[in-house]
Amino acid sequence: MSKIAVIGTGYVGLTTAVGLASLKHEVTGFDVDPIKIQHLKEDKLPIYEPGLREKMVEAKVGGNLQFSSDLETTVSDADFIFTCVPTPQDEDGSADLSYVVAATQSMKNHLPSGAIVVTKSTVPVGSAQRIELTLDREDIHVVSNPEFLREGSAVSDFHNPDRIVVGAKSMEIGQRVMDLYQKINCPKIITSQASAELIKYASNSFLAIKLSFVNDIAALCELAGADAMQVMEGIGLDSRIGNKFLNPGPGWGGSCFPKDTRALASIANDFGIQMPLIEAALESNEKAHKRVADRVMNAVGGSLVGTTIGVLGITFKAETDDTRESPAIAVIERLIGRGAKVKAFDPLVKSYPLVGLDVVDSALEAATNADALLILTEWNEFQNLSPKDLLPVMRKKFVVDTRNVLDKDLWITSGAIFPSLKD
Ligand code: UDX
Repeated sequence: MSKIAVIGTGYVGLTTAVGLASLKHEVTGFDVDPIKIQHLKEDKLPIYEPGLREKMVEAKVGGNLQFSSDLETTVSDADFIFTCVPTPQDEDGSADLSYVVAATQSMKNHLPSGAIVVTKSTVPVGSAQRIELTLDREDIHVVSNPEFLREGSAVSDFHNPDRIVVGAKSMEIGQRVMDLYQKINCPKIITSQASAELIKYASNSFLAIKLSFVNDIAALCELAGADAMQVMEGIGLDSRIGNKFLNPGPGWGGSCFPKDTRALASIANDFGIQMPLIEAALESNEKAHKRVADRVMNAVGGSLVGTTIGVLGITFKAETDDTRESPAIAVIERLIGRGAKVKAFDPLVKSYPLVGLDVVDSALEAATNADALLILTEWNEFQNLSPKDLLPVMRKKFVVDTRNVLDKDLWITSGAIFPSLKD
């Protein structure tokens, strides 16, 4: 059992703290926001993540997890300090390291000799050295251990990862961090610090490129009279491609992909090379948003002025309450920009600050008097919506299902019109 401090209790920090505690380490979660810590002490979570609250309560009751707003006592006897603070995007697309540097500075004089500072936050290549310089202590080691947790399945991802990557200056130090995950059975690699840092950006960028390709192919399928889902099934059966991450949608988003792709392009630029594939993936993503807005606009007669569009789903994907860089919001903004009024329902989002967007309490309310119904997030509960309930309350019967969640034949039989890109 190791003593671990986790700095930052957002999506990554909280899941990491709870995960490490359920591996029976002795974990203290720290946050600069005392209100957040008070809430966590009262078992109130700042985020929605399936299964996380239960695991957190279990770890607290078992004595493996506590929360503190006192940085000094949190780190002063820790063997490992996991930094899980945000690395937002700077104006030029690069990662803003100021939170990482500030956290490092605040703790540097309180760390016990021999402690290992582990970076979980997604940081550019070379950040480990920058943290070492900020620490300015020969007796502290800096290790990179990128997270690959998906929101919505982060608890299960923590315990069943595809791999664990630890980047360290020496095998011995890397192995000490890897040993924290002894109970987890998966491929584990110890790399250099720079490799670990780059693995994270490269993975997310590769996945984003894959999705942009999928969305472009899906559009082509429709125009060429092919079935995108059949095509995805066919290409996914090639084991070199793989059958995951092939679902077309309104574009990809979230707290990682847009930020990490732009950051990787910016890192490459710093090293004097261009990454046209990443630039193209970002451009394709914009086109995916636009394609959805165009489809709705063409369906309702070529202009959105004076129309009401019912939207289902605001989050960037299902099973999360996160709206950061949500493709749903990107599409909604386009619809409003072109003159529509939008009424949107999401199981977890109850308000959103956007003029022209009315967040409503049910799918029925979103559909009422709508000229078109647009599905932007793949919430499971949308599968069970009945066309018999929703179609009669709509002004026009256009349905645009960007996530393929509805039983299309059933909806068509009930009178829905699914506008095609060809229209
Ligand atoms: C991602 C990475 O997957 C994870 O490893 C990393 O640590 C953080 O970033 P997350 O942002 O939670 O995780 O979402 P993810 O499940 O990867 O989805 C990202 C976006 O791609 C979402 O907008 C999602 O809807 C979209 N997506 C995903 C598709 O459109 N189709 C798919 O087949 C899969």
